[in-house]
Amino acid sequence: MLLRSTLTALGAATLTAAVTTLEVQGSQFVNSKTGNAFQIVGMAYQIGGSAGYDPKHGKDPLSDADICTRDAALMQQLGINTIRVYNLDPDLNHDECASIFNAAGIYMVIDVNSPMAGESLNSAKPWESYFAGYLNRTFAVVENFKAYPNLLGFFAGNEVIDAVKTGGTAPPYIRAVIRDLKNYIKNHADRQIPVGYSAADVRDVLEDSWNYFQCAIDGDKDDMSRADMFALNSYSWCGDSSFEKSGYDQLVAMFEKTSVPIFYSEFGCNTPSPRIFTEIETIYSDKMMGVFSGGIVYEWAQEPNNYGLATVNDDNTVDLLADYATLQKEYQKVDFQKIQTIKASGNSVDPPTCQASLIKEDGFNNNFTLPVLPPGAEDIINNGVSPKVNGKIVDISDYNVKQTIKDASGNAITGLAVKPLSDDEINTPGASGTSGTADSQESGNAAPRLAPAGSLSAALMVVPTVLALALGAGFSMI
Ligand SMILES: *[C@@H]1O[C@H](CO)[C@@H](O)[C@H](O)[C@H]1NC(C)=O
Ligand SMILES: *[C@@H]1O[C@H](CO)[C@@H](O)[C@H](O)[C@H]1NC(C)=O
Repeated sequence: MLLRSTLTALGAATLTAAVTTLEVQGSQFVNSKTGNAFQIVGMAYQIGGSAGYDPKHGKDPLSDADICTRDAALMQQLGINTIRVYNLDPDLNHDECASIFNAAGIYMVIDVNSPMAGESLNSAKPWESYFAGYLNRTFAVVENFKAYPNLLGFFAGNEVIDAVKTGGTAPPYIRAVIRDLKNYIKNHADRQIPVGYSAADVRDVLEDSWNYFQCAIDGDKDDMSRADMFALNSYSWCGDSSFEKSGYDQLVAMFEKTSVPIFYSEFGCNTPSPRIFTEIETIYSDKMMGVFSGGIVYEWAQEPNNYGLATVNDDNTVDLLADYATLQKEYQKVDFQKIQTIKASGNSVDPPTCQASLIKEDGFNNNFTLPVLPPGAEDIINNGVSPKVNGKIVDISDYNVKQTIKDASGNAITGLAVKPLSDDEINTPGASGTSGTADSQESGNAAPRLAPAGSLSAALMVVPTVLALALGAGFSMI
């Protein structure tokens, strides 16, 4: 106990500690200080779905510090190191939420679009939606998030291509948006921020999409329109599946020679339900890690589509669902201390040169002449968005969770708080307490994350979990 509180105090003493920025090297995300390759242990975070983005009322998923504290604390316990947020208002201030997730050791992947008119590409007629006002919106998101150290990267588009038909029209426009975002970042950010695309796992168009965005026009790998990363939303592992049955093996084979990082920007098939999340052990195994950089579980908050890990009630109390505890147990089977300290390979694969023969599917666009900038856009890329809201990390005075949280059995979890990590630490699924009441006072304890792997304190931390599991087993026998 003494050791535990000492470690916590040390963590709390460091104000505005920051995670280390990640950068793309070859096909890996690499920690810029340690040189370790990074595996994404991610969570899709968009409470209320697209309705959670409500600019008329000044609301989006990262606009309320109390809600972010609540969810960051719960995700910290779960072991999450990255959130993906889909729809954000670039005119809002996100400093507190970004700082809370940063303190929890959690990165952010941010989509620059929204479903509202003029705020994303229309895949059927992309030429109508590619105009300066739209690009300005995406650049405003860059301005808003560019200074946060825990910004992992931006998605220029999500599932814009969903079939061969949209694969015929959309690719040059998506690639143009990637180009424009990268030029904007080059002019206005003080580090390289990865820009990529999040694809639908539609096997007719997946390989072509990847090649269309990773290839180098005229063989120039510094070509600004090349994606820095490629991700896919994949639901092919359902229930008690396997590397082969799920088709994950085919994905690994397909992407084996990738020149950019690959990861699941969504996964977590929900039939059967509740889920068993056995894909976790495979995603973070040698079978996949040489090609994939982890993945993002879909999704945090329950919606009618039934993918949630937690029900967020109208009064902002939270009821954790069975899937939360199951996912936590699956993460705990993986040795993340080891996985996250593997040095980056240093290998880089040259991207293929863009040419019509690279594209396999008949009807998929194989023309790499990109649309020119729409009128007015060049001026914004050169001079910056105006007016704009620039984010920055701020001090957070209170990390305590204020809402009532219940575990899947309806027991309240008390004493929950974000435990700020020290400089350069990343949240890791550890041996911290599960969400049962048996160890409720310990539930937010971050000590395992501060302890080196294999140390005495790390071994001690396992005890509450074992106890909780033993109690759980006892109950089920009654
Ligand atoms: C660009 O975005 C900013 C911030 O959202 C907004 O205030 C401004 O009106 C936009 N300008 C144009 C030309 O769309
Ligand atoms: C490729 O696209 C450009 C721009 O839309 C167009 O001018 C050109 O004719 C297209 N090339 C072919 C071979 O279709």
